[in-house]
Amino acid sequence: MAAKKPEFILFLTLNFVVLLRFAESVVPQQEEQAVGNILAAMNATSWRFNGDSCNLETISEVAKPTQEANASVGCDCTVGNDSDCHVVRIDVAYNYLQGTIPPEWGLTQLQDISLLGNRLTGEIPPELGNITTLTKLILSSNRLTGRLPTALGQLGNLTNLRISDITGPTQGFPPLNNATGLIRLQDVLPCAEDIECPRCEYSSSLNP
Ligand SMILES: *[C@@H]1O[C@H](CO)[C@@H](O)[C@H](O)[C@H]1NC(C)=O
Ligand SMILES: *[C@@H]1O[C@H](CO)[C@@H](O)[C@H](O)[C@H]1NC(C)=O
Ligand SMILES: *[C@@H]1O[C@H](CO)[C@@H](O)[C@H](O)[C@H]1NC(C)=O
Ligand SMILES: *[C@@H]1O[C@H](CO)[C@@H](O)[C@H](O)[C@H]1NC(C)=O
Ligand SMILES: *[C@@H]1O[C@H](CO)[C@@H](O)[C@H](O)[C@H]1NC(C)=O
Ligand SMILES: *[C@@H]1O[C@H](CO)[C@@H](O)[C@H](O)[C@H]1NC(C)=O
Repeated sequence: MAAKKPEFILFLTLNFVVLLRFAESVVPQQEEQAVGNILAAMNATSWRFNGDSCNLETISEVAKPTQEANASVGCDCTVGNDSDCHVVRIDVAYNYLQGTIPPEWGLTQLQDISLLGNRLTGEIPPELGNITTLTKLILSSNRLTGRLPTALGQLGNLTNLRISDITGPTQGFPPLNNATGLIRLQDVLPCAEDIECPRCEYSSSLNP
């Protein structure tokens, strides 16, 4: 019994060190789970999000669908008023993902979402309008339907917004006059001229 004690103490110490390291640097489990749910809803089955390394790990090799295909997640450990790291960027542009944009983002600190060039269907969830930290929201070139959520007008930090190819009722764009920064609007719907957005700057990379 006595001979085992030092090992036991060492074991405890190692555990403590491991716990400390985890407590300092990882994405909270709830947030890791949320990214998992987002990937699942978009049918992005070839990657898994690792919250310890803040990486999108490839779990099944597939040929890159396009040259421009992006698949990355970015974290920032200095945002928020806790010591955790938070997911601030999700970019899965040009992967021809066939799924939906889930309502349950569960992440409050995202700054940059790029879902450009996929085959996502369904509506834009109004929950996106609750991510007040969002500066960049790129949803162009998908197969989305329905109305633009008026909640997008709550995004006061938005500087870059791209939305196109939404089929659905003729609709006005939600007013964006709460955004204090200049918003670069690109590829927006034909109703773009009607947007109430005093600080908007328009450009288009789409064919007229
Ligand atoms: C892909 O990622 C690179 C590097 O982060 C970025 O510069 C580029 O804008 C991204 N492309 C798209 C389409 O999001
Ligand atoms: C920051 O702390 C305040 C008060 O403790 C809390 O209400 C708020 O939710 C925290 N903000 C974030 C982003 O964690
Ligand atoms: C998800 O992807 C698989 C394989 O690419 C496909 O067979 C399936 O139809 C997709 N599911 C949805 C909901 O699009
Ligand atoms: C946005 O957040 C507010 C306050 O937390 C909540 O009452 C509302 O239901 C949320 N809206 C959506 C669409 O999630
Ligand atoms: C804009 O900001 C004002 C004042 O903070 C608020 O009352 C209003 O609800 C906001 N509008 C939108 C569309 O979020
Ligand atoms: C802008 O984002 C910061 C955090 O990055 C947040 O504290 C602030 O409330 C946001 N502003 C608006 C108007 O939502």
